[in-house]
Amino acid sequence: MIELKNVSFVVPNEESTNGGEPKEIIKDLSFTFEEGKFYGITGPNGGGKTTLAKLIMGINPVTSGKIFFRGEDITDLSITERARKGIAYGFQHSARFKGTTFRDLLSIAAGTDNEDELIKIISRLGICSIDFLDNPVNSKLSGGEIKKIELATIIARNPKVAIYDEPDTGIDLWTIGPMVELLKREKEAFNTTTMVVSHNKAFLEAADDVILIRGGKIAYEGDLEGAKPILEDLSVCGFSNVCEGESYAECYR
Ligand SMILES: Nc1ncnc2c1ncn2[C@@H]1O[C@H](COP(=O)(O)OP(=O)(O)O)[C@@H](O)[C@H]1O
Ligand SMILES: [Mg+2]
Repeated sequence: MIELKNVSFVVPNEESTNGGEPKEIIKDLSFTFEEGKFYGITGPNGGGKTTLAKLIMGINPVTSGKIFFRGEDITDLSITERARKGIAYGFQHSARFKGTTFRDLLSIAAGTDNEDELIKIISRLGICSIDFLDNPVNSKLSGGEIKKIELATIIARNPKVAIYDEPDTGIDLWTIGPMVELLKREKEAFNTTTMVVSHNKAFLEAADDVILIRGGKIAYEGDLEGAKPILEDLSVCGFSNVCEGESYAECYR
């Protein structure tokens, strides 16, 4: 479906004033994403997850290597050309547009402003109120609402490949469950190849395949069970109580 062949992404090292060694962010990475599968992409911060997602969408150009979509070389295609082929991408931090309503954004994504069609799309997301369509997409919306709007604009395009970069950023805990269910439902119904970058257990549990990216490489691929020991190793600062023997209150005050 999406095949990465020896993909690397290198940037000049900006920390060095006299132009030191370039920084290799994705290192000779090869992987094939299969059609209709749900991938949970996880790993430590700075490991290269967002960079990888952006390489697939064409937001970052590869430095070397090739990307294929259904066997066709798309390495040199622009974001727009890839979007036309059915690849969609949701940013970690959703954009807010002054003077634009949800209806405007959704109509552009769906390619129609037919009210019945728009209602069909929002009901897939579990939005019951038609009034929600006329919400301005501005700073007054909550993090959860803005994420819902962004997910709607991705789903409205009926993508073949949907890439979500930390879709749980800025949303409350109670919204995550329905969001996971939504992405699973869409995947089942339309055979959407789904890639979700997340640290959240709920997304990783929903995944058919967990990919762990560390240091610009795939450190693990397989089921969540197998990823757990590595993930535990990575959580250097957990929420464990460091004050053994003492009461929590005594220790921390
Ligand atoms: N365009 C860029 N220029 C310089 N450094 C970058 C660029 N993009 C990403 N990086 C660096 O590459 C590393 C991986 O980043 P990223 O892919 O955002 O990680 P993740 O999403 O796994 O947290 C980070 O150290 C980040 O600072
Ligand atoms: Mg990231």
